[in-house]
Amino acid sequence: MKTITAELTDMVMAQLQDLGIDGVLKKVEEVQICKNPKFGDFQSNHAFQIGKIQRTNPRQVAESVKEAFGEQPAFSEISVAGPGFLNFRLSNEWLVAKLQAMTNDEHRGIPQVSDKTVVIDFSSPNVAKRMHIGHMRSTIIGHTIDQMYRAAGWKVIADNHIGDWGTQFGKLMVSWREDMNPEAFAADPIGELERLYVRFGQLETPERLELAKQETVKLQQGDEENRRLWKHFIDVSLKEFNSVYDRLGIAFDVVLGESFYNDALPDVVSSLQEHGISTDSDGAVIVAFEKGSKPKMLSETALVIQKQDGAYLYGTTDLATCEYRLNTWNPDEVVYVTDMRQQLHFQQVFKTWQDWRLNRGATEEDLQSPQLTHVWFGMLKLPEGAMSTRAGNVIRLVDLLDEAVQRARAVVDEKSSFLPEEQRAAIAEAVGVSSIRYADLSQNPQTDVTFEWDKLLSLEGNTAPFLMYSYARAKSILRKGGVENPTVADLQILDDVERDLALLMLQFPIQVQAAMSSHRPNILCEYLYALASSFNRFYFSNPVLTASDDSVKKSRLSMVEAMLRVMEKGFSILGIRALDRM
Ligand code: ARG
Repeated sequence: MKTITAELTDMVMAQLQDLGIDGVLKKVEEVQICKNPKFGDFQSNHAFQIGKIQRTNPRQVAESVKEAFGEQPAFSEISVAGPGFLNFRLSNEWLVAKLQAMTNDEHRGIPQVSDKTVVIDFSSPNVAKRMHIGHMRSTIIGHTIDQMYRAAGWKVIADNHIGDWGTQFGKLMVSWREDMNPEAFAADPIGELERLYVRFGQLETPERLELAKQETVKLQQGDEENRRLWKHFIDVSLKEFNSVYDRLGIAFDVVLGESFYNDALPDVVSSLQEHGISTDSDGAVIVAFEKGSKPKMLSETALVIQKQDGAYLYGTTDLATCEYRLNTWNPDEVVYVTDMRQQLHFQQVFKTWQDWRLNRGATEEDLQSPQLTHVWFGMLKLPEGAMSTRAGNVIRLVDLLDEAVQRARAVVDEKSSFLPEEQRAAIAEAVGVSSIRYADLSQNPQTDVTFEWDKLLSLEGNTAPFLMYSYARAKSILRKGGVENPTVADLQILDDVERDLALLMLQFPIQVQAAMSSHRPNILCEYLYALASSFNRFYFSNPVLTASDDSVKKSRLSMVEAMLRVMEKGFSILGIRALDRM
């Protein structure tokens, strides 16, 4: 299904074609939502652009397009504004028909692509260490990007590129054999592994370092005992990671960690050498980016792909990963989600891989696919005293979720003491987890985020509880109205409040597209916040169940149902739980 703005663009283009001026535009921009609703619902800049290119008066071009449109059932008004913009106000009949089609569509009007694949590399914590809140943002933002692509019909490969290889395992093994505490390990496996790793650092000497190195080499050479231990570390770590993913409603298609690419690394380095992509530097192998390299941050930097001692690095693995993904899934896009500190790393990897492909016979056109995107985000901060239980100096993701649920529980107990215990616990879990997700998603990812409990759990403002509460309120109207088969068939627009709400609903797929193409879930959050606010205005000014006229009541029930359908889809993309009651 096409979005309303795509459809309007087609309509404008048809008029331009009739006027014989459509060819003037090299690139056709899409019709936009009017920034100021005073002027209209949607705006076309095409006449303005044509006028400028042809050096004719853009306003006159706009006037002639308006005239060419004539009377149309789709519009109640077409007007020319400013230096040559065309503004459209939809007729209520057309708006209703479009909204019905959209809310009856199983994809809620989100245009579906066919045969497109994206690999999304997100979460990717390191084994034998706790998942901390830095990984939380990757997990939540990455998962929401995953959900947006799926909503648009993409084939998505969600890949958890866990850090499960490296010299830390040798250290861990030395420490493990000397001092592992079985009870502590049984109670909190990752906690014990972390303690052992820290212990190694505290006792570090050149001799012990050498010992650890030997253990790492043994592991790499396939020593049975070290392999077994290493697998054990991975298993217990994944078990804990999975409990967090389950709670957040996240699933991966593949978990291909760094170790998976280990055997491919010697060939990566020799091929890079052979094609002159890398150079030797004091016995190490590096890819050097000279002054003036693009993008600018690359200028005068280097990516080390093999150290003097022969060890391979993070970037070497990422290059092998690029190759594997291309050969296995031939994706149209690969999206990496990590914090901002890895920007240079990914630019180096992308550029190196592109040059390497070019050297092996790929054309410039081949290089367009996959499109490589690094989605980075700022840091997450917690104000002093934000956690009531805090062990060690890293805050674990589980503890953060627990804290949110516990705080939500206090509110539920107070406000809904009449509900049975079990139900209150379920509501608190849903509210707590949704609030954490939403607090992260609703901010521009590229800014630092500070979590403030009172704010993120508040029933007012741009928060998950506010959205969830609006949803539950709408559900309760249908319940109290005894609606058994909810429908949008009776929809009418009877006043401005209803028109505003209807128009906003119609924008849903456009907002999803905007959030997706910019990889910014906060666009969708802002939209849902506006939608819930508009719904609340409707709720307070337009009684549904007590409407005097039966056709008005039916229409309003349809309005409520349409809102629920849109909101439900938005929630599912953001991972916000839709509760029928709160
Ligand atoms: N394990 C890494 C970290 O914790 C993130 C990996 C991101 N993905 C990748 N392909 N490099 O920082």
